[in-house]
Amino acid sequence: MNKIYNFSPGPSKLPQSVIDKVEKSINRYKLTGKSILEISHRSIEFDEILNEINSNFLDLFDLPQDVNILLLQGGATFQNSLIPMNIDRSSKLGCFVTGTWGKKTSEDFVKIFTNLEIIETKSNAIGQYFHKEYTGFQNTDYLHMTSNETIEGIQIQDFNSMNHKNLIIDMSSDLGSYKFNFDNLSYVYAGAQKNMGIPGVTICFAKDNFLIETDNPKYLNLNLLAKSNSTLNTPPTFSIYVLNLVTNWMIEMGGIDYFQNKSNKQSKEIYDFIDENSDILSCSVDKKYRSKSNIVFTFLKDQQNKEFVDAAKNFGIIGINGHRSVGGIRVSLFNSVDEDMFKIFMKFFKKYISELSN
Ligand SMILES: Cc1ncc(COP(=O)(O)O)c(C=O)c1O
Repeated sequence: MNKIYNFSPGPSKLPQSVIDKVEKSINRYKLTGKSILEISHRSIEFDEILNEINSNFLDLFDLPQDVNILLLQGGATFQNSLIPMNIDRSSKLGCFVTGTWGKKTSEDFVKIFTNLEIIETKSNAIGQYFHKEYTGFQNTDYLHMTSNETIEGIQIQDFNSMNHKNLIIDMSSDLGSYKFNFDNLSYVYAGAQKNMGIPGVTICFAKDNFLIETDNPKYLNLNLLAKSNSTLNTPPTFSIYVLNLVTNWMIEMGGIDYFQNKSNKQSKEIYDFIDENSDILSCSVDKKYRSKSNIVFTFLKDQQNKEFVDAAKNFGIIGINGHRSVGGIRVSLFNSVDEDMFKIFMKFFKKYISELSN
């Protein structure tokens, strides 16, 4: 079979070294005499895995002492119920909506939290919310946003400079690809299946002062979940195991700095090429907010989008069709897309466009 180059938006490509380790562990995990799939969440081995993840997260994300790590189930979508259920109803909750996932969150939040302020914007208007004079966010105690809108390819990496002290951020499709600090963040979450592993586990970082006492049912009680070291009930042990392997791999590669450089370089190269060929291709996202994780663009002639995806498939390049709601092309450059794989894509892309031009 031909080699496959997987540029999917998620679940996405895993590093080969991680897959090799998984393969071995499925057969026999260390000296346990059994498979990783059979490991108890109350075992010493699983404790070791959790401890290693905690320490890897401290290393990778430079977590301050008042940040709690939670590994939960239900994907990022479950967070749309969990978060509003754990915010005092007398607070004002806001949603800064820049794309599909943020909108879905606001639609769920409003079912639980009727006192909701929704600020919806297009990519070319995001800049106005960063002006010093803009004070609209101050009307809210907590503000939810999606740092990377995976479908539209819109990314806000400089949320640390936003004029709001308590951000809640869905980082499902960019956690682990650039540096940030926790100064103005209250809560961060990300489904693991893009940069950090496979489906089944959601990574959550909660500041101490975001955790309030509630009498919510157990799995909707964030405070209780934070105190139970990800083992309130049976956790997704296999997904957590893979997450640990991915965090080890990230540290070996050089940590977040390495992935930030890689994604800056790769995304610049591809966007520059798209802009140079504006007679054939178009990227409608404002330049300042173009995603470095998901490159979304279209061929001006609509039928060429499908032709390009089909031609790429013949070359082993898969997962590049745009989301069904927006069409076009989406090339996802997650952490696992290495230099070789990227070069192969660019070579194919350049050749394809030059043949179209001739
Ligand atoms: C930014 C973002 N948020 C939320 C989700 C939903 O994630 P899940 O399927 O884990 O609920 C996705 C899925 O792709 C996403 O990209």
